[in-house]
Amino acid sequence: MKILVTGGTGYIGSHTVVELQQAGYQPVIVDNLSNSSIRVLDQIEKITGQKPEFHGFDLCDERLVSEFVAAHPDIKGIIHFAAYKAVGESVQQPLKYYHNNFFSLINLLRAYAGKAVNFVFSSSCTVYGQPDELPVTEAAPVKKAESPYGNTKQIAEEILVETATANDNYRVISLRYFNPVGAHASGLIGELPLGVPQNLVPFITQSAIGKRGPITVFGQDYDTPDGTAIRDYIHVVDLAKAHVAAIRLLERGNPNGAYDVFNVGTGRGYSVLEVIRAFESATGIQLNYQIGSRRAGDIEKVWGDVSKSTLELGWKATLDIDEMMRSAWQWERYLKDNPID
Ligand code: UD1
Repeated sequence: MKILVTGGTGYIGSHTVVELQQAGYQPVIVDNLSNSSIRVLDQIEKITGQKPEFHGFDLCDERLVSEFVAAHPDIKGIIHFAAYKAVGESVQQPLKYYHNNFFSLINLLRAYAGKAVNFVFSSSCTVYGQPDELPVTEAAPVKKAESPYGNTKQIAEEILVETATANDNYRVISLRYFNPVGAHASGLIGELPLGVPQNLVPFITQSAIGKRGPITVFGQDYDTPDGTAIRDYIHVVDLAKAHVAAIRLLERGNPNGAYDVFNVGTGRGYSVLEVIRAFESATGIQLNYQIGSRRAGDIEKVWGDVSKSTLELGWKATLDIDEMMRSAWQWERYLKDNPID
């Protein structure tokens, strides 16, 4: 069974391609390599023994998308990762985000008009903003987005609900990821941040290997046990497996209807200082960090209720924070000896 994986050479995409291959699917990647490397294909092949089919073009080009769809009538599922994701950059360049994240989605949906297709969308817990109740369930209200990036996720979910409601050929699941971290156990694929990492764990690993200076903890005056912000970190391999589970649920026929949404997290939160300590205990490395002020747009705390994913998607995270840190560090060391650009 062929599954189109847009953004399949990216961080979450590449791990999902591996899980799809290992589950017996044939992933077909479309990626414009704007935030990834063609060499990821060789890395995937080293893990699975299969080099995935790859097409390098930009999904914002409507003509190329429809040509691709016409040439691949055997694709029965789509996992759509391809999107920009840097929160800070989206505030500086909102149109870049609205243009890329919407045109790619709309072009794909239009090209598949009338064709039965299972569609899995990369959404984010960012749609909840600061939830009123924790853990946050899928039924919690969507709060006004803090950034154009967050807004693209909210509006994309609306586009998908409306499209699936109006056309019975689309069956859609949005996965709301919490904070993806870690790398594949092989040490051969992982995150390749562009420039200075904005996210916590890549900054930690780059600081530990000497590529960056001390880590700044963004705020220690939150209303949390140690004063630092809390997130629900999810191992990228667990997250990748959630996509395979979503495709399988769509294939079986989702009793909840044409559109559905699931939280993908572990259900437990860790503060920034707890993550720093977890890295230190997993690796034996002492980190250098300082306390700074809060980062604009950050929320205080969020972690997910994952009971719906457990019961209805049949998926549950299995890898703990220790494994998240160990694998992230293994990947950083691999990159030092084998740079991928
Ligand atoms: C946010 C979004 C997430 C989005 C991601 C993309 C929320 C809840 N999450 O993740 O949906 O996909 O951006 O980038 O909106 N921190 C430090 N020092 C650092 C870096 C981070 O203290 O150098 C702290 C942050 O303040 C935060 C935590 O670490 O409390 C995690 O930050 P990060 O990894 O950037 O992820 P989010 O901002 O939670």
